[in-house]
Amino acid sequence: MSVTAHKPGDGFLQTRDLVKRFDGEPAVDDVTLSINKGEIFALLGSSGCGKSTLLRMLAGFEAPTSGSVLLDGVDIVALAPNERPINMMFQSYAMFAELYVCDNIAFGLRREGMAKPEMTVRVEEMLRLTQLEAFAKRKPHQLSGGQQQRVALARSLAKKPQLLLLDEPLGALDKKLRERTQFELVNILESVGVTCVMVTHDQDEAMAMASRIAVMSHGRVLQVGTPQEIYEHPNCRFVADFIGNVNLLEGELTLDEADQCEVTTACGVVHVGHGVSGSLGMAVAVAVRPEKIHISKTRPATGVNLFEGKVREIAYFGSYNSFIVEVKRPASDARDFRITETNTTRYEGEGITWGDRVFFWWDDSAPIVLMR
Ligand SMILES: Nc1ncnc2c1ncn2[C@@H]1O[C@H](COP(=O)(O)OP(=O)(O)OP(=O)(O)O)[C@@H](O)[C@H]1O
Ligand SMILES: [Mg+2]
Repeated sequence: MSVTAHKPGDGFLQTRDLVKRFDGEPAVDDVTLSINKGEIFALLGSSGCGKSTLLRMLAGFEAPTSGSVLLDGVDIVALAPNERPINMMFQSYAMFAELYVCDNIAFGLRREGMAKPEMTVRVEEMLRLTQLEAFAKRKPHQLSGGQQQRVALARSLAKKPQLLLLDEPLGALDKKLRERTQFELVNILESVGVTCVMVTHDQDEAMAMASRIAVMSHGRVLQVGTPQEIYEHPNCRFVADFIGNVNLLEGELTLDEADQCEVTTACGVVHVGHGVSGSLGMAVAVAVRPEKIHISKTRPATGVNLFEGKVREIAYFGSYNSFIVEVKRPASDARDFRITETNTTRYEGEGITWGDRVFFWWDDSAPIVLMR
């Protein structure tokens, strides 16, 4: 164990230039992260992007090819998993089928040699925390998926780790139960105050649960930010496209001032209410979220960022409507815009239907210009 320079403001958990290669192929590629105490931090990315490998290096199940992992300023790379004040909860909860819930929770404590009275108190505390008091004397197969998930969590928290690692913690649950359990899980983690790094490929789950998210692709971290930052200010095309729905328009930067810029696209000029400090003529993309676009059958007063097209598809989702509008471009090919409209009042509909010619437009604060 070596103590490296650690400034008070530094993250509680840090990775520096962390790399893991399998047969020369990078699974985790130069990841530098700083995670604060008490944070719920999500690693988000599609299958195979290196999330689990990164988590396993934090836990000590995988040795980095290079780089370091610092916990509270101490490099822990040389420590075995059980020497780290860290607990990892795997996706398959890996419970002992023949043991009662209470004994599953106590398992790690018993192995650690905790005295019986203390252990009983701790197990009761964990049962209470996860609202499993009534299930202490059941076996795993007598529990629902959500209850099993809570047992796994209780067991992970029983040793009071400083850092909890969760790999797809809700992966085994169906959609409805997942959504309910997300809030439960956050409440439990916050009441314990444990620092938590969780892996998920579900962006809604990351947005709902995490204080900050790292978006990963091909072993690299592309952006770290709060859910709002990631959604409203994606830093590249991949992140904009990966999180939520987005209309991406490729074009050329044709005006760039401190407080505004213009991008010329095949559909026309897009006016943007912020500068980008780019160079004129460079290839950029404009990103506009579907819910930031207004749609109407009648021509609006504005002439800026105004487009005309034909409704190709409509879907009614109850709380909102989704439109696909096709815009003919000068080059005679067409492109689709996705537009959503919230149903704030009971939907009587303006009567926009398939095949209608519509106008759609957005404020100049809506688009983001992406240079990567
Ligand atoms: N032990 C290993 N040997 C060789 N390659 C591996 C090994 N473990 C992982 N990989 C590879 O490293 C890459 C990252 O895998 P990893 O399991 O970290 O992805 P993931 O983001 O967790 O994906 P998923 O969402 O599917 O769980 C993959 O291409 C995978 O095939
Ligand atoms: Mg994985």
